[in-house]
Amino acid sequence: MTWTPQYAERTAGMTRSEVRELLKLLERPEIISFGGGVPEPALFPVKETQAAYDDILGDPKLVGRALQYGVSEGWTPLREQIAATMTAKGVRCDVENILITSGSQQAIDFTARAFVDPGSEMLVQRPTFLGALKAFSAYRPKYVVLPDPKSNEPITASRGADRPRMAYVMADFQNPTGESLTMAERHDVIRLCADLDTPIVEDDPYGELYFEAEPMPTLAAVDLDGRHMDESRTLYCGTFSKTLAPGLRVGWLAAPRGVIERFVMLKQAADIQVSTINQIVVSKLLDSLPANRMDHVRATYRVRRDAMLAALDKHLGGMDISFTRPDGGLFVWLQLPAHANAPALLEKAVAENVAFVPGPAFHHDGGGANTMRLSYSLADAAQIDVGVQRLAKVFRENL
Ligand SMILES: Cc1ncc(COP(=O)(O)O)c(C=O)c1O
Repeated sequence: MTWTPQYAERTAGMTRSEVRELLKLLERPEIISFGGGVPEPALFPVKETQAAYDDILGDPKLVGRALQYGVSEGWTPLREQIAATMTAKGVRCDVENILITSGSQQAIDFTARAFVDPGSEMLVQRPTFLGALKAFSAYRPKYVVLPDPKSNEPITASRGADRPRMAYVMADFQNPTGESLTMAERHDVIRLCADLDTPIVEDDPYGELYFEAEPMPTLAAVDLDGRHMDESRTLYCGTFSKTLAPGLRVGWLAAPRGVIERFVMLKQAADIQVSTINQIVVSKLLDSLPANRMDHVRATYRVRRDAMLAALDKHLGGMDISFTRPDGGLFVWLQLPAHANAPALLEKAVAENVAFVPGPAFHHDGGGANTMRLSYSLADAAQIDVGVQRLAKVFRENL
């Protein structure tokens, strides 16, 4: 069988994820990887997760439901907990506003599946999350850049019937730059999308990983300004991947209830529901974990962020390289001289036993050759210093 002519057009632009490929490097112990943006496994609540599974499997009343199919919307007590947490953060929600998804990645995919036809416009930040670009590109949108709020670039989006179908935005500790929108910039994005009459999809996996002051209100909270989610232009994608563990694959979409009803149909078509037992485990974890647990998670990543910035200051001094100073999340973004080619530098870096993600993966147009993302999530402070020293050597020898 010759397979190539069989594949649908939507697969044409698909390539293997550079990050997933890079994750393979983590298996080589000599490599210090600033590549994958995955959470630190030592922070997973292992004991409590085991206790939750034991509770469920040992409870004759619960186990039959936990191992059974459930409703596609998700486990109701978990949806209630999420609705209450979102309400407490200024996004007034009821249980009907929450759909449980297989990580936020699935919610992101569903938004494009629901709103984007081939050739229709959608707004994205540049750079943006490469996993979202992979999902969106299957629906073959025409990407339009949401201008950098610090620039005065005009927006080139169409108006009227051809207006963008959605805007995909990370407001807090963005992947890949680690940067957040200021309050004024949040208002600007909302005003722009209101003016275009375009829905906003807010993706917020890192909002809870703040290292300094409490974070600003989410885009959804700013958009609603006290109103109920049913009146929202902003849909909110949340996840337990960075606060609990990504292997549970539990995330959610918060949206007006009419939108949720549509998305439930997508969920049924895609995979029926998220694992019932995993949803119940997450629900139990939310009840059983100590309230101050996230302080420890934040403190762990804060130490690593500090180590990364100190190492960059120390080893890149005098080079024509700038980098972001994030207040949360897992990433630092490097801007190298204009002639630099980060994909080529990665090969040299791997030879020096250090890895990163080259910037083009985060650019819908393949640009950003002189940019790169460093994640400090998996290395301790000493390894971070050694890793950045190795990177500095690569830069000195090749730039
Ligand atoms: C910005 C962003 N959105 C979504 C995801 C997907 O996470 P998950 O599907 O595990 O919730 C990630 C994962 O790294 C991410 O960085």
